[in-house]
Amino acid sequence: MKVTVVGAGNVGATCADVIAHKELCNELILVDIKENFAEGKALDMWQTAPVNMYDTRIKGSTNDYTKTVNSDVVVITSGLPRKPGMTRDDLISTNAGIVKSVTENIIKHSPNAIIIIVSNPLDVMTYCAYLTANLPSTKVFGMAGILDTARYKAFLAEELNVSPKDIQAVLMGGHGDTMVPLPRYTTVGGIPVTELIAADKLDAIIERTKKGGGEIVNLLGTSAWYAPGAAAAQMVEAIVRDQKRVFPVCALLNGEYGLKNIYLGVPVILGKNGIEKIIELQLNAAEKELLASSATAVKEVMDVLDKMNAATA
Ligand code: NAI
Ligand code: 2OP
Repeated sequence: MKVTVVGAGNVGATCADVIAHKELCNELILVDIKENFAEGKALDMWQTAPVNMYDTRIKGSTNDYTKTVNSDVVVITSGLPRKPGMTRDDLISTNAGIVKSVTENIIKHSPNAIIIIVSNPLDVMTYCAYLTANLPSTKVFGMAGILDTARYKAFLAEELNVSPKDIQAVLMGGHGDTMVPLPRYTTVGGIPVTELIAADKLDAIIERTKKGGGEIVNLLGTSAWYAPGAAAAQMVEAIVRDQKRVFPVCALLNGEYGLKNIYLGVPVILGKNGIEKIIELQLNAAEKELLASSATAVKEVMDVLDKMNAATA
């Protein structure tokens, strides 16, 4: 099994480190455009193998995609991160150019790879990779839902003083302030969360989750990487181990939830073929309305990308 991570920055390096620790593949390639950066990170990581006792062989490459040939799974994290005051959408034009050229290089050397996008603005960069890759949408999808749900679960675990392992939750929609955490589908050890927490406290946690990325940007001056890197690695694990995990993933909808031709976070089954099924929940009227307004927000940014592509065609 061979995995490539493009972008050896904060998220990419963390993702690669988790993949190696879990021995998810024999060969792990880290690529970056910055001269010797991926080589240096890969060498440092490989030198943890005798300490952390893993066999995954990590190699770095400065933009040489021949090293990525025949990758089974590729994680794309290359792009600018958010700085204070920036929205994810501010990143669109720069990161679209990066994601497009990286995807072209990946497909040239690994035409059958499954591609996971992490670069922001996430839903639209995933659409950008899909337009470029010419692969079925079951093989091109984005990571955001696992991260956003992890934040939601972490906040709940803290508030309820319970193990985060016992919290199950679903969160849908775009990776932005319009994301839709679903309290009706949130349980703690099988108990509906609404039986354990006051409505105003739950509302506050939902609001904090929606702004969870921005909270870290304001603290650090750049965006998060430990949880995003671990979340992307968890998707790699579900694929390479064919786990059939149920995760919220940014997937292309083709009529599901009444939406078409839009990349949006929805629960899916993730296995060796990528997205093996999109799960359609029976949302109530209020939930449908929240999902529709999240879809509208994502569609607006997708339209910006379509206009940019039309202008350069
Ligand atoms: P970073 O700046 O630490 O790393 C980005 C790396 O990409 C840099 O090392 C840079 O040299 C490299 N790069 C730029 N252009 C490239 C190209 N054409 N080819 C190869 N490498 C290239 O940024 P960080 O924190 O790792 O974030 C990466 C991206 O992930 C950002 O767009 C960020 O907004 C996004 N992100 C998405 C999350 C999600 O939930 N989907 C969560 C956190 C970050
Ligand atoms: C995050 O949610 C900024 O998308 C990045 O941390």
